[in-house]
This record gives sequence, C-alpha cells and structure tokens, in this order.
Amino acid sequence: MPDMPSFPSTRLRRTRSTPWSRNLVRENRLSPHDLIWPLFITSGTGVEEPVASLPGVSRWSVDNIVERAREAVALDIPCVALFPNTPPDKRSDDGAEALNPDNLMCTAIRAIKGALGDDIGVLTDVALDPYTSHGQDGLINDKGYVLNDATSDVLTAQALIQTEAGADIIAPSDMMDGRIGRIRDALESGGHHNVQIMAYSAKYASAFYGPFRDAVGSGGLLKGDKKSYQMDPANADEAMREIAMDIAEGADSVMVKPGLPYLDIVRAAADSFNIPVFAYQVSGEYAMIEAAAAAGAGDRDTLILETLMAFKRAGCSGVLTYHAAHAARLLNG
Ligand code: PBG
Repeated sequence: MPDMPSFPSTRLRRTRSTPWSRNLVRENRLSPHDLIWPLFITSGTGVEEPVASLPGVSRWSVDNIVERAREAVALDIPCVALFPNTPPDKRSDDGAEALNPDNLMCTAIRAIKGALGDDIGVLTDVALDPYTSHGQDGLINDKGYVLNDATSDVLTAQALIQTEAGADIIAPSDMMDGRIGRIRDALESGGHHNVQIMAYSAKYASAFYGPFRDAVGSGGLLKGDKKSYQMDPANADEAMREIAMDIAEGADSVMVKPGLPYLDIVRAAADSFNIPVFAYQVSGEYAMIEAAAAAGAGDRDTLILETLMAFKRAGCSGVLTYHAAHAARLLNG
C-alpha cells in the first residue's frame, strides 16, 4: 500500500485565502459597461414621479430624462432604455400614439441625442402596450386575441419613427413572429444601416412584470394575459428556436427575459449562438431584491452585485437593470 495523505493535497481554498488571490483567479468581472439602464418617461417639465411598486425608481419628464442620461454617461453606463407612460387620453384601441413622431418616446430620444450625441446609446422598446387602451402589446380582434401580422405592420412603422428620432438600438419586446425581419428590411430600405436590433427573443409570459405595468400605466388596463404571444415558462428548447429565428431575420443581439429565473436559458443561448446575449432583470426581480433588503434578509448592495454577477457567469454580454446607476456607483468605488 502506498502512503495515502490524510487530507487532499489539492486544496481549492488555497486560492481563496486572500483578497489578492481571489482577484487573480476571478473568472468573471462586472463593470458599468455591462449595464443598460431602463428609464420611464412622463409628461411635463421638472417632474419626478416615484413608482410605488418600484421603490427607488421614478418616472421622469423629458428634461429630467436627459439629466439621467447625463448621469449614466458620468457613470460609464453605455446605454439607456426608454419606456413611456403615455397620458390616458392618448391611449386608444389601435395604439396610434405609438406612431406620433412627437410622442413622449420620440421627444425623449431627440432630447437625449441632442444633448449627448454618441456619448450614450439609446435603446427603444417597440411594442404597443404603453399606447393601447387594452394594455396588450399589439392589435386585437373582437375576442381580444393579439393579431400577429397586422401588429407587425404597426411595429415596423413604430421602429422607423423611433429610428428617425435618433434611436440607436431598436428593441422589439412584443413577441410577434417575423417582426425582426420586417423591421430590418424597413431599416435597410430607409438607409438606417447602423441601427441595431436587440430582439427580445425569449420573452416569457411572466408574473415578474407587474411593477413595470404600473410604471407605464398599462397594468390597470390589461384584460386577460399575454400567453398567446409570450413564451410558456415551461419551455426551454422553444427559446432556442425563437433566438434562431430572430438571428436569421437580422437581430444584432438577443435578449432573455425575465433574468434570474431564466439563467438556464441565458446559458443555453450563450453556448448555442455566436451573438451577444443580454438579459433583462425585470421589475419584479428588482422589487424582490428591494423587499428582501428592506426585510433584513440580506445586504442590499451585496444582493445587487451578486445577482448582476450571476448574469455574467451565465454568459451575458450585459444586463438591463433598474439598479444600473446604483450598481455602477458601487463598481466605480
Ligand atoms: C412590454 C414590456 C414589458 C416589459 C418590457 N417591455 C411588460 C410586458 O410584457 O407586459 C417588462 C419589463 C419589466 O418588468 O421590468 N412590451
């Protein structure tokens, strides 16, 4: 019998024993450059309206949105994502306000790009839910069913209007089939060759979107659910088919949404496709972290950075998070 050591000669804890060594062997790093900051726009001037279900998140009037974008630049956050809270009298069954070149969204895009130019990217959400009187992301028939092709026509026009206002990344969050190809064709024909498309490819019909719907004012209006177009939380292979379709149609990057409960989808996407993968840490996830921290279940800053690192570990190029500014401040030390 050879002599057997009484303890393993390889001790993984050796490299964990000091801060410098942990720094040396760390596999993933999080930086402000990984973050996209979603911002909610409201009417008026000088307005900040706190969103009750998202403690610490506000809707801002366009002048204040520009200040938030300026703050993002100072924090090294590369991109902001815009969502409008359309006034109730401008919502309609067909969501026509989405095509108004002077709507809140387009006004905010022009204001940010006018003030900051290419110092920051502006990502815009393409979907009709902030503009419809029924809260669905598209046009509905008399049974309330969301129509794919008629909706895609409107979304294509919406994407062009946002692009003409100066949007850098068009992000369709509607989950209609075929809309990425339609939008890409329209952008090419319009000469907008450098406008990116980030496809919300694997977007699930999730209970984690509640506070967002409060923030854009669609929650109280929504009848029924979005299960006929958003994905079934039980499905993973189908997400790979969604992503493959959006890439074939011309997406520059793809997104998985929600984030933390779907990190298996992020990992599978990162392994299967050679394209940047983003995740959206959505409103309900933000609210859960805030509630947990407020209840004393964990240290807020540590919870925030640990969850954001989990996205990097799962293979994300970046994360949309309402914690972006706070996280960037922590990371910038
Ligand atoms: C709507 C849209 C939603 C979100 C982003 N775009 C909600 C929905 O699909 O009902 C959710 C984001 C969040 O919860 O933070 N097209």
